[in-house]
Amino acid sequence: MPSTSIISLRAFPRQYGVHLAEIRSICVSPELQHRGAGTLLIDALLAEAEHHHVSCVCLFTLIPSFFSRFDFRVVTREAIPDKLYKDCLLCPKLHACDEIAMVRGELPKTAILGKVPVEVPLVKLGA
Ligand SMILES: CC(C)(COP(=O)(O)OP(=O)(O)OC[C@H]1O[C@@H](n2cnc3c(N)ncnc32)[C@H](O)[C@@H]1OP(=O)(O)O)[C@@H](O)C(=O)NCCC(=O)NCCS
Repeated sequence: MPSTSIISLRAFPRQYGVHLAEIRSICVSPELQHRGAGTLLIDALLAEAEHHHVSCVCLFTLIPSFFSRFDFRVVTREAIPDKLYKDCLLCPKLHACDEIAMVRGELPKTAILGKVPVEVPLVKLGA
């Protein structure tokens, strides 16, 4: 008899435009991790982005090695101004961010929330 299981997973994608979409809060419940569900979820989100002709997908993560398997690469957060202006500038961890910015695809040449490139990189005053 075939077995069935309920997979608990989630992600909250955000689209800024065809120039940028973001994968946010991807999560697989702990008891179901390491069985391929996370990979399926990322593949589905990337297919969705491709379907909408999105040229760049970004994310912030603490585990870049997981995402590099999907051709995400590390960038500075200044390289993705929409994410910077949408979240980082409001974040209490603005100057103590422990997350790594990654993108897949072509870096955005435009932005809806700020200028490209960001002319003044965010550095802690007095650092
Ligand atoms: C990251 C996450 C979504 C992966 O889901 P998953 O269903 O376990 O992923 P898959 O089974 O498709 O792939 C597993 C592989 O991903 C990599 N991987 C998974 N979790 C990892 C972690 N915390 N650190 C580094 N690599 C990791 C490993 O290579 C792993 O291979 P293994 O099973 O042979 O060890 C899941 O571990 C999770 O929900 N983690 C907690 C929330 C989180 O950190 N989300 C990321 C926020 S950006």
